[in-house]
Amino acid sequence: MLADASDIVRLSLHVTAAAVWGGGQATLGGLVPVLRRAAPNALVPAARQFARLAWPAYGVLLATGGWNIAATHPSKEGSAWRVVLAVKLLVVLTSGLTAWLHQRTSTTRGRAAWGALTSLSALSALVLGVALAG
Ligand code: HEM
Repeated sequence: MLADASDIVRLSLHVTAAAVWGGGQATLGGLVPVLRRAAPNALVPAARQFARLAWPAYGVLLATGGWNIAATHPSKEGSAWRVVLAVKLLVVLTSGLTAWLHQRTSTTRGRAAWGALTSLSALSALVLGVALAG
C-alpha cells in the first residue's frame, strides 16, 4: 500500500530537514580539518553559511515533528511510544541548545565538545524517530 499524499509531504519534509540538520553537521565537521589546512580563511564563512541552512531546517523539524504527532493514529500511541517521544523531544532540545552553544563558544575545545554533542543528539533523534515511525 502506498502512503497518501499528505504523509508523503509530511515525512519527506521531516526527513529532508533531519538530513540537513544532522547530516550537514557531520559533513561540515568532517571537512573542518581539511579546511583548516587548505583554506583557513574559509572556515568561519563556511560555518556561518551552514548555520543559515541548518536553523531553518531545525525549524522545519519542529513544525513537521508537531505535524507527525497530530497525524499519528491513536492506536499507535501506547505508553512505550509516548516514552520514546518524550526522550526524543529532550534529545531534540539538547541538539538545538548544544548547536547554539557551539556557535557562541570561542575556544576550540568548547566548539569541539558542543559540536560533538549536537551531532550525537541529532543522530539519536533520528534513531528515535525511526523507532516512532515503525
Ligand atoms: C533533530 C531533530 C529531529 C530529527 C533528526 C528527526 C528525525 C526523524 C526521522 C528520521 C524519523 C523517521 C521517519 C520515517 O522513517 O518515516 C522521524 C519520525 C518522527 N518524528 Fe522526528 N526528528 C526530529 C525532530 C522531531 C520533533 C521536534 C518531533 C516532535 C515535535 C518529532 C516527531 C516525530 C514523530 C512523531 C515521528 C514518527 C512519524 C510517523 O510515524 O509517521 N521529530 N523523525
